[in-house]
Amino acid sequence: MKVDGMDIRPIWFDKNEQVVHVIDQRLLPHEFVVAELRNVDHVITAIREMFVRGAPLIGVTGAYGVYLAAVASADNTISDDDLAKECNRIKAARPTAINLAWAVDRVFASIRGKSGRDRIEAARNEASAIEEEEVENCKRIGEYGFSIIDEISSRKNRKTVNILTHCNAGWLACVDYGTATAPMYAAFDRGLDIHVWVDETRPLNQGARLTAWELGKHGISHTVITDNAGGHFMQHGLVDLVIVGTDRTTYTGDVANKIGTYLKALAAKDNGIPFYVALPSSTFDWTLRDGLKEIPIEEREPDEVRHIQGLHDGRISNVLVPPEGSPCRNPVFDVTPARLITGFITERGICKASEQGIAGLFPEMK
Ligand code: MRU
Repeated sequence: MKVDGMDIRPIWFDKNEQVVHVIDQRLLPHEFVVAELRNVDHVITAIREMFVRGAPLIGVTGAYGVYLAAVASADNTISDDDLAKECNRIKAARPTAINLAWAVDRVFASIRGKSGRDRIEAARNEASAIEEEEVENCKRIGEYGFSIIDEISSRKNRKTVNILTHCNAGWLACVDYGTATAPMYAAFDRGLDIHVWVDETRPLNQGARLTAWELGKHGISHTVITDNAGGHFMQHGLVDLVIVGTDRTTYTGDVANKIGTYLKALAAKDNGIPFYVALPSSTFDWTLRDGLKEIPIEEREPDEVRHIQGLHDGRISNVLVPPEGSPCRNPVFDVTPARLITGFITERGICKASEQGIAGLFPEMK
């Protein structure tokens, strides 16, 4: 997508220097800083500390991590077994988004048994293929999702379509276009009148910091709201549609996404508002049936709840909110059961959030 007229992605690979560049998303929207990832440890830190975040982007970063592990072993002194250990370290950086393990395993499978320059080249090609495929997938999600917004817009006689989203499932999370945001960009670019309610998304405020920044840079009308306000706007007829992303989706249609997604789905159900989840196929976990019981939910440092980051006197600062000694907990994803989801928007089309619906689009994974 374009930022101030410049084409930009949240990750790019410099062939000459063999360095992976990423936007440090911890500092957006107040500072635009690019970090360099030169080895596996850098990749792990970038994923764990959330320089990069969002399921597809974590996957692509992990894929380049395997490439960097192969580069470090150019003299071929590292065995496949030791390379597999490096892959496991990368996969452990964050547990919930399945894209990370999927992408790392895919690159490893493409280089297993190879050595030297061959191995390096194969790793780079596979990581780059994953990156480009995710871009194409998101573009298609935009096309399919556009039809949903267009239909609502026609029904409303082309009056403003109000869409609510949670967290950031935008291009920053996905290389390009985004998942939940791709239909919004497609609708806006084709002249539909849309407005987006952006949940701030505590504790790290990915909505207020990142989604608002992305949409604003594209000229899309949006309003940041507290995480608790969505239900109120739904009750007053001010939300036509909810679209969110996902970090892992079972083959039966249960969705793990940013904490608070479940409550939005409940409110949408109560108000008869369509609730769609947009995802590329890399976010399906074809091995899991029961999302609530089986999807690992990441719990991060309570300090992320204790403090809020923002701009103060021109500098990014952190402030303490609760009393110093109050215990805090920080589960960062929750599971929305399939029964609360209207449908999935994927690169192959739109389907019902059910085992049958998903298998209809992806019969080869059955
Ligand atoms: O903790 P984060 O910022 O990595 O969480 C991101 C989300 O929950 C997104 O909604 C999800 O990864 C989908 S991104 C297309």
